[in-house]
Amino acid sequence: MELSKEKIVFEVIKGRRSVRSFKDEEVPREMLIRILEAGQWAPNPSNVQSWRFIVVQEAKQLGTLKTLSPGFPKAPAAIVVCSDQRDMKRFGETLRLILTAEEAAMAVQNMLLMAYSLGFGSCPVASFSKAGIKELLELPDHIYPILLIALGFLDEQPVPPQRKELSRITFWERYQEE
Ligand SMILES: Cc1cc2nc3c(=O)[nH]c(=O)nc-3n(C[C@H](O)[C@H](O)[C@H](O)COP(=O)(O)O)c2cc1C
Repeated sequence: MELSKEKIVFEVIKGRRSVRSFKDEEVPREMLIRILEAGQWAPNPSNVQSWRFIVVQEAKQLGTLKTLSPGFPKAPAAIVVCSDQRDMKRFGETLRLILTAEEAAMAVQNMLLMAYSLGFGSCPVASFSKAGIKELLELPDHIYPILLIALGFLDEQPVPPQRKELSRITFWERYQEE
């Protein structure tokens, strides 16, 4: 029986988990490309596509990355999602920062979902030393690191964290507190 598009999409959205334990096995380049392509097709403001994706797989680079982000899981690959702020110049300073984060988040979610659908585990990580990552990856000033993604074959099947009831987080027509 063929699954409907809606069922497939919802299964992927609901089945994806943040994975923090990975097998010590390399992620094949063609799989990484597929995941990056999913990021590339995310919505973004005025189609500026300011995102820049830096793939890290070398053990030494990953080791240093972990010292700059203690919560980063031990993973065989990382994607550092950055933004080229030169592409964002058309937006005012305050809006630019918000749009940069929103744009990156959309690309990251696409990549997490693609990783899951290819059988990989992933985890977005926001806490890291921006200065340290800039130095490690030799980023010029206009390339701004936003989020890290840990990636690999999963070594655990995390229990889905509870979600708040939909009725608690959804309002129709106007916001209303109980
Ligand atoms: C913007 C963002 C930042 C996150 N940063 C971290 C992090 O620094 N370390 C970590 O272990 N997980 C991080 N996570 C993963 C969340 O903890 C996780 O998504 C949440 O607990 C829900 O679990 P689930 O992803 O399995 O649904 C982050 C998620 C998001 C969206």
